[in-house]
Parts: sequence; structure tokens; C-alpha cells
Amino acid sequence: MKDLTPAPHSLDPIETASRDEITALQTERLRWSLNHAYKNVPFYRQSFDAAGVHPDDLSALQDLSKFPFTVKTDLRDNYPFGMFAVPRDQVARIHASSGTTGQPTVVGYTQTDLDHWASVVARSLRAAGLVPGDLLHNAYGYGLFTGGLGIHLGADALGLATVPISGGMTPRQVRLIEDFQPKGITVTPSYALSILDEYNKQGLDPRASSLQVGIFGAEPWTNAMRAEIEQAFDMHAVDIYGLSEVMGPGVSMECVESKDGLHIWEDHFYPEIINPETGVPVADGEQGELVFTSLTKEAFPIIRYRTRDLTRLLPGTARTMRRMEKVTGRSDDMIILRGVNVFPTQIEEALMAVPGLAPHFQIELTRPDRMDQMRILCETADTSVDAAGCAKALSASVKQTIGISVKVDVGSTGSVTRSEGKAVRIVDKRPKS
Ligand code: DLL
Repeated sequence: MKDLTPAPHSLDPIETASRDEITALQTERLRWSLNHAYKNVPFYRQSFDAAGVHPDDLSALQDLSKFPFTVKTDLRDNYPFGMFAVPRDQVARIHASSGTTGQPTVVGYTQTDLDHWASVVARSLRAAGLVPGDLLHNAYGYGLFTGGLGIHLGADALGLATVPISGGMTPRQVRLIEDFQPKGITVTPSYALSILDEYNKQGLDPRASSLQVGIFGAEPWTNAMRAEIEQAFDMHAVDIYGLSEVMGPGVSMECVESKDGLHIWEDHFYPEIINPETGVPVADGEQGELVFTSLTKEAFPIIRYRTRDLTRLLPGTARTMRRMEKVTGRSDDMIILRGVNVFPTQIEEALMAVPGLAPHFQIELTRPDRMDQMRILCETADTSVDAAGCAKALSASVKQTIGISVKVDVGSTGSVTRSEGKAVRIVDKRPKS
């Protein structure tokens, strides 16, 4: 793999600013953001008033903990535009979550918000080793999802040439990578595996492709998966994180030269980690739920938004802004199996360690005889593999490392449902109580 470390002079000055400079900027912007939300969004006025706090109560960053949280249902209750802080005619773009589990969550951006979004995504793509003039194959979905268009904005700002292919039509993905020779690919890690399958199906060597870096996000993935993808494509694999409620992709980004967690672009997004049970902030380095407050957003300011994503904050390395560790999972995706907490990423790690298994899996939950049961559906990498042996090895490893008994079904190659975007890891067939 080529060294893709960006030239120091190409970085934004804030990426190497001192901690004091960052804190000063954050404090000033946080004051503005709290005031802006309070003045212009009835929801925030009511929730601050109910908690007995006023934006003027913030004199230092730590004072933010006095302010109330915002949760997903608050956004749904204010559907569609109730959380907007500017008149509708100043909104330049709308995105929304898919809303498969209820009312969609709608977010808006002014032109200034779009410019800020472009700049943090450009920064992220540069951190991945891309430079102006490079070709980018953007396989995140275009549409209401922020992935495709968010990356596209940043790629334009950095001066890349973007192939806006979106997700799906996998044979065509391979065809265009082979024909256009992109240097980078932006895609969910699970869909990258589908593209990898297609390479093998067409008898092409993915290691011989032009790709030098993959920028993977929108779903949790492990370092074991990183190793697998890097080896398969002979390219760097870096992590990009974000969520629509806070902006979209580009809230935080891993640097290609360090691959040690994701630097949060703290000049626009203020992070906290809280104990998910008590809501109390924990110290940097401790695990908990990630909470974000926007510092510059005009159309859709978001104050202390509970992401449900579990991680911890770490000091800066390749950049001075703090890092978040790779997300372990969402608290919503945590499975409690007979008292043991399990995340799909733990299953992914165990599975990747069993030779002969392909990196595709799904977790099925059932409740026979009132006892929760987990079945892991996975598949062999090729026909020469001993499926029964792999099943035994995986269930033994899950028992040993996570401490739970699971059933493992190893099917033939191609038997696990493939993803074209975010993978569906858990199929819950338990009766709804
Ligand atoms: O997934 C934005 C995005 C697009 C990020 C493309 C990166 C690349 P939402 O659809 O609102 O936005 O989903 C946000 O996805 O709260 C996490 O649970 C999960 N997620 C996003 N990035 C990562 C990541 C986009 N790198 C939700 N690692 C978030 C783990 C991630 N989970």
C-alpha cells in the first residue's frame, strides 16, 4: 500500500491548532448555538425553560451539562420542520432518515450549513489521502440519505472528480471501477464486501484494481474487517462517521497515516460521552454514549443530541482534535442474551477469526420456550471449506470470548443476504411483548 499521508501544508489551520485555541473557539460558538436554538426553536425554549437553564448560564464548556438532552422522539414529535431555526425559504437542502421504524426524521441546511458540511467532508477525504484531481467512486446512496450527497459536496470542495454511482447494480460497480480507475471509494463496509464478491465472481483480481483507499462508514465495522478489506483490495481502509441529525458523513474521520480512531471535527461538533443509564458525563477515556451539540448549524441546531452510539473519547494524535474510538455499536442494537450484553461487532470479530468463513453474517433472534436464542447465519468462503467444522469453531469461540451459547448455521457461499447500503445485522423474530 502506498503512503498517502497528506502534506502538512494542505491541512486547515484548525486541524493543528492548540487545545487552547480549540477550546476558545468552541466556547464562543457554543454560546452562539445555544442562543440561536433558544431564540428560534420553540422546542428548545420550552426544554431549557423546563430545566431552569438559560443560554447565559454557559460561561465554560463544562456548563453544557446543565442543559437538557435532545432525543430522536423530540425530532419526530416536531415533524416535519418544527426543529428548524430559520424560515423555510432560507433552507437550501432537506434530508431525512429512512423512517422504516416510524416517522422519518427531517433535517435542514442553509447554504452556509452546506458550505460547512462541504468543508468538513473535504477535510475528511483529505485525511484519507485524497488530493485535488483524484477520482472518487462514490457508492453511498444518493437521495434523502446523507451519505451520497454529503460525500459529493465534500469531494467537489476538495477538487476531486466524483463518479456519483450510488449504491446497487453491483456488476456495474465493478465495471466502472475497472474502466474509470478511481483512486478512492466511498461505500459502506458491508457493500464493499458485496463488490468484492462480484470481483471474484467475474474472475477479476481486486488487488490489481486502481483503488488505493476505501472510506467506510454509516455502520459499525471492526478492525478485523479492516484487515480483511485491506488485504483483499490491497488498499487502505479508513473509517468515516456521521449522522443526519448532526450533519451527515464527516462529523469525524480517521486519518490514513494513523488509523487509530476518528478525529472529531470539534470546531463544528462538540462531543460529550455520558453514562447511558444516568445521563451524567464521564471523563475522556471512559466508555459511554456519544452526545453531540452543533456549534455552527443555522437551519437545524442540535443541542446535546443522544446518538445512542457507544464509544469513548481519546486525545488527538495525527490532528489536535480529539478522537473517538471506533463505534462498538448502537445501544439500540445491543442484544441482551440471558443477561449478557452482545453487540454485532463482537460476533463480527469472532467470525473473522475463523479461517474458511466468508465475512458475511446475520444474527437471528428467536424465543422458543420463553428463552432467547441467537442463531448466527454465515457462509463458507468457498466450496472446499468444512462447514460443520467452521460452525463448531465459531460457536466455541463465541462461547469462550463472549460467554454465550449460540447456534451457528454455515450455509454455502452466497447464502447470506447481501447489503447494498447499511447491512441488516439483526433479524429479530421474537414475539413482540
Ligand atoms: O449514516 C451518515 C454517514 C454516511 C456516515 C456515510 C458515514 C458515511 P444516518 O443514516 O443518520 O447517517 O445514520 C447515523 O449510523 O448514529 C451510527 O449508528 C451509524 N454510523 C455512521 N457512521 C458510522 C461509523 C449516516 N463509521 C448512524 N461507525 C449513526 C459506526 C456508524 N457506526
